[in-house]
Amino acid sequence: MKFSIPGYALLDSGDGRKLERFGDVVIDRPSSLSAWRRRNDAVWEGADAAYLPPDKWECSRSPFTTWQTEIANVKLELELMSNGQLGIFPEHAIYLPQVEAAIKRFLAAGSRTVRVLNLFAYTGLATAFCAKHERVLVTHVDLAKRAIDWAKRNVQLNTSATDRVRWIAEDALTFMAREARKGNAYDIVIIDPPSFSRVSKNNSWTLEEKTPEIVNLVLDVLAPESGVVFLTNHSAASTSDVARNIALDRFNDQGVSIEISPLSLKEERSDRILPAGSLITLSHNSH
Ligand SMILES: C[S@@+](CC[C@H](N)C(=O)[O-])C[C@H]1O[C@@H](n2cnc3c(N)ncnc32)[C@H](O)[C@@H]1O
Repeated sequence: MKFSIPGYALLDSGDGRKLERFGDVVIDRPSSLSAWRRRNDAVWEGADAAYLPPDKWECSRSPFTTWQTEIANVKLELELMSNGQLGIFPEHAIYLPQVEAAIKRFLAAGSRTVRVLNLFAYTGLATAFCAKHERVLVTHVDLAKRAIDWAKRNVQLNTSATDRVRWIAEDALTFMAREARKGNAYDIVIIDPPSFSRVSKNNSWTLEEKTPEIVNLVLDVLAPESGVVFLTNHSAASTSDVARNIALDRFNDQGVSIEISPLSLKEERSDRILPAGSLITLSHNSH
């Protein structure tokens, strides 16, 4: 897996924190996995903002809360959110070149329009990336209206062809079940389920318990014999194997390749990596 992400760098990590550059803004945040030592104390002095849990940001120079940047050739609005998030999970930029290659394969094979389904789509990194391509129609699904509004702004920063995106503010599983009933299929499914989802007061789930249902729903809406899936897992590593086995069962091991690869961020000036989950890709052998 290629490590470098244009516009982003992991500058250093250690002692329970990570130091990252997003465009020209340097951010210092907690990182529970960074159980090693910092390599370069001096570089941390350059942080523009540091997150202090549970909800505080400390800016080193003039205070700011939002900025615009370009990561993986996608223009994005980022924000210092009170939960420590910024509006991007940079590891998701790692597989965008594979998504682009899949789009190009569909177009080269004669598809008039490539139908992309982006589930748990957050602030729309993958949506904006895909919508920059002609003859692509992205269906963007997220439960949170605030995330959808943010993703709309990100798409607008990248293309004037905003009609390439269909916006759905709904539970991703409910949406997939309805699409399957209607017989609607997608060429590319990008899905980044959270480890925990609270859909409503009486409906919450963990990815571990929902993996079989999620994988089956994805395969219900995937174009038969040609569809490609990019599924990411940020929970237990075993969840990726569970997902792979369930998909293999659906195909009786025939006609598909399902690969699991690590999603990791490599430090700019060392060989150390920060683990960030894994990517499960499914593609048809004929494609
Ligand atoms: C991209 S996911 C997970 C991000 C991160 N990789 C992680 O593991 O925490 C977060 C997004 O999923 C959305 N989300 C959570 N539950 C959802 C559901 N049941 N249906 C659709 N979107 C949901 C949230 O609104 C949020 O924008």
